[in-house]
This record gives sequence, structure tokens and C-alpha cells, in this order.
Amino acid sequence: MTETLESIAQAMVASGKGILAADESSGTIKKRFDSINVESTADSRRDYREMLFRTEEAMKKYISGVILYDETIRQKAKDGTPLVDLIRKAGSIPGIKVDTGATDMPGFPGEKITEGLDGLGKRLAEYYDLGARFAKWRAVIDIAAGIPTRTCLEANAEALARYAALCQQAKIVPIVEPEVLMDGGHDIDRCFEVTEETLRILFDRLAAHRVRLEGTVLKPNMVIAGKKCGKQASAEEVAEKTIACFKRTVPASIPGIVFLSGGQSDEDATAHLNAMNAIGGFPWKMSFSYGRALQAAPLKAWSGETQNVPAGQKAFLHRAKMNGLATLGDWKAALEKAA
Ligand code: 13P
Repeated sequence: MTETLESIAQAMVASGKGILAADESSGTIKKRFDSINVESTADSRRDYREMLFRTEEAMKKYISGVILYDETIRQKAKDGTPLVDLIRKAGSIPGIKVDTGATDMPGFPGEKITEGLDGLGKRLAEYYDLGARFAKWRAVIDIAAGIPTRTCLEANAEALARYAALCQQAKIVPIVEPEVLMDGGHDIDRCFEVTEETLRILFDRLAAHRVRLEGTVLKPNMVIAGKKCGKQASAEEVAEKTIACFKRTVPASIPGIVFLSGGQSDEDATAHLNAMNAIGGFPWKMSFSYGRALQAAPLKAWSGETQNVPAGQKAFLHRAKMNGLATLGDWKAALEKAA
């Protein structure tokens, strides 16, 4: 079959599967390694990620694609096999993070703008040659008193749309990620309001830049209360409000929505996704593109020791399988059956 943007996007959201976000920047992976007292070096980062990509059952059955960082897409496994080939051999698609991070937005205290457009066309062509068939760009929207401003939402949406257009020109499927953070003390309704406005502006800019939605994947936050909010919503409320928000704002031509976990516990991230798919009745696939919610358990089980690789792989397989079940709305029933 000839590969098209549409066919890649469809494969990224294949039934029962989701995406492993393993594109932590050097700064972020250092924080993760600090938590297990492991020094972050090119070799330790390679060993850790090689462990994940060699978890054959998880990769083959539950992981449709892996988002890589610039260093990783160029790295080789201990035996000399490019890491990209490990991913491809497992039938999964390599992807690449291409933004260069979010920086303070001048004139807008507390708000961030994501950078990385300069020279992006050339970088995408190189990533395509290295095997990437999809990319990711993350915008960060914080909720606090008086923010986000419309200017911040518009500037970030414009950058996401320009990135997406460049990706499609390079035959790479863009994952557009406007992340409304869950760090604040806001309630779920405020998250709804901000997510709704963020998505409305984003799809307006995507249309303006002639981005083909059939070849685009959306990576949003769920509609959820801030971590510091005293009133946390039930899984059913998160699911209902997230679906309602997206029905208002996300065109049906988008093949799939893959959520970020954003600091939710492993189990919450699975329960919320499962609740949405159990409700159903929407035109898109609803799946995952989790970083922390897939990796926290394997990272801890591994803790930098070669002898712990089987334990790390077992932990990764478990989370991948639970989230795979959640994409079908079958997680809760499987849990009850196992109990
Ligand atoms: P989390 O699931 O840890 O939020 O990471 C996903 C991601 O790729 C954020 O850009």
C-alpha cells in the first residue's frame, strides 16, 4: 500500500493501540533519572529507551508509534541496531519531537510561546530520511488569574498551524499538541472553558494554513480539575466533559485524538480514557500518547540496573496493555474479571 498522510494517521490510531511519548528533552529526562538516582548520560538514556523498545509484546500489540527526541532518533542499540529499526521491526512507527521548547512570552507574564519554526522544513526532511513518519509540537497553556490571554492562544495556535503545514509538505503527519496544564487550582469547568477556546482558535488557524485534517492527529489534555483544586471530578465526569468539549470544537475529519497524561496518576490516565471509550458516540478514535503514565512504573522498576530490565519490561507491558484495553473501553471489565 502506498504510504499517505492519511494512512499513517490511521495507523497511529489503530484499534487497541496508542503512542509511547519517549521524547523527553535532555532536561526532562535528567529530572526523571534524578528520581531513581541514575546519572543521565547518552548511554544511560540509550539503555533505558532500548529496554522499552525491546519490550516486544508491548510494542507489537499496544504501541502504534513512538515519539523520539533528536538524540534518540540517531542512536544505536548496544548491538549496533539503530533504535529506529527496533521500533519499525515491532511494527510501530517512529516519530519525532520538533519544537525546541516553550519560552516566556514577552509582555505576557506567566505565559509561554513554543519555538522551533526557523529551519524546520530542512530538519523535517532530515528526520524523514532518518525514518520519522510523524512529528510532535507542544504548546503550553497555563491557567491562572487573568491567563491565558487570547494573544497567547492565538500566537501558539499560529505556530502549531505553521508547523503542521511544514510537516505535511515533508510527508510527515503532525501531532498538534495544545496542552492546557493541570497544575493550577482551577476547577473542571474552568478547564472546559479554556480548552474549548484553545481548540476553537487552533482549528481556525489550521484551516487558515490549509492543513489537511485527515492527515493530522490531535494531542490534547483531558478536561479535568487542576491538581490543586479541592474538588476533583469523577472519571465519568472527566469523560463526559471531555467528550462534550471536543464535540463542540474538533472536526470529525480528524482521525484520532491521543491524550497526554499531563501528571495524572497511571491509573487515572487509564480510567479516564476507558470511561470515554465506554461512553462512545464520537467520530474520532480516542487513544493515548502518554509519557509519564506509561513510563513511571518501568522507570522505577529498572532503576538503572541491567538485571532489572525484565522487571522494567514487565511494568511497561502492563501499562501498555491496560491503556490498550482502555482505547476499547474494555479496561474496567478486564480488571473485574481478573479480580
Ligand atoms: P505526559 O503523558 O507525561 O504528559 O507526556 C506526554 C507528552 O508528550 C507531553 O508533551
